Amino acid sequence: MAEQISIPQIGASDIGYLSFFQDIEIGFPIKRIYYTYEAPKGTKRGFHAHKKLQQLVWCPYGDITIILDNGTSRENVRLDSPSSALFIRQGIWREMIWNRKNSVLCVAASDHYDEEDYIRDYDVFIKLVDEGFWNYERNTI
Ligand code: TYD
Repeated sequence: MAEQISIPQIGASDIGYLSFFQDIEIGFPIKRIYYTYEAPKGTKRGFHAHKKLQQLVWCPYGDITIILDNGTSRENVRLDSPSSALFIRQGIWREMIWNRKNSVLCVAASDHYDEEDYIRDYDVFIKLVDEGFWNYERNTI
């Protein structure tokens, strides 16, 4: 479920590093980029899934645990390196925990912000998984 992407690093310890990624690693056209910052240690965010939205998330500074849930199992991914990113497809419930204050979470999203695309109730999420909402063979989403 966790699809981690290693981001190339250019540079050296005495001058710092430059990291980048582009369309080939991302796999979808980016329509929106946003980031979350100045959250205290221990902050928990997320607690939602998306109907259609795909996202690439990375933590250029700090240490954040991402909990991914596909309705049958859970997986934890620790984002504590600026050279590591995580792809989160549609239909994945996610929770994020700030392990260090001021960690920055960046998100590249496949679409504009649309509250209608959110599922914020875990019971509704499980119901949709059970109904096969994200089953590509029966649904075009
Ligand atoms: P949300 O996606 O729930 O982020 P998190 O899981 O980190 O809490 O968004 C938080 C709030 O911000 C929510 O009220 C929706 C709003 N929001 C926007 O107004 N524009 C955006 O682009 C995004 C992603 C969220």
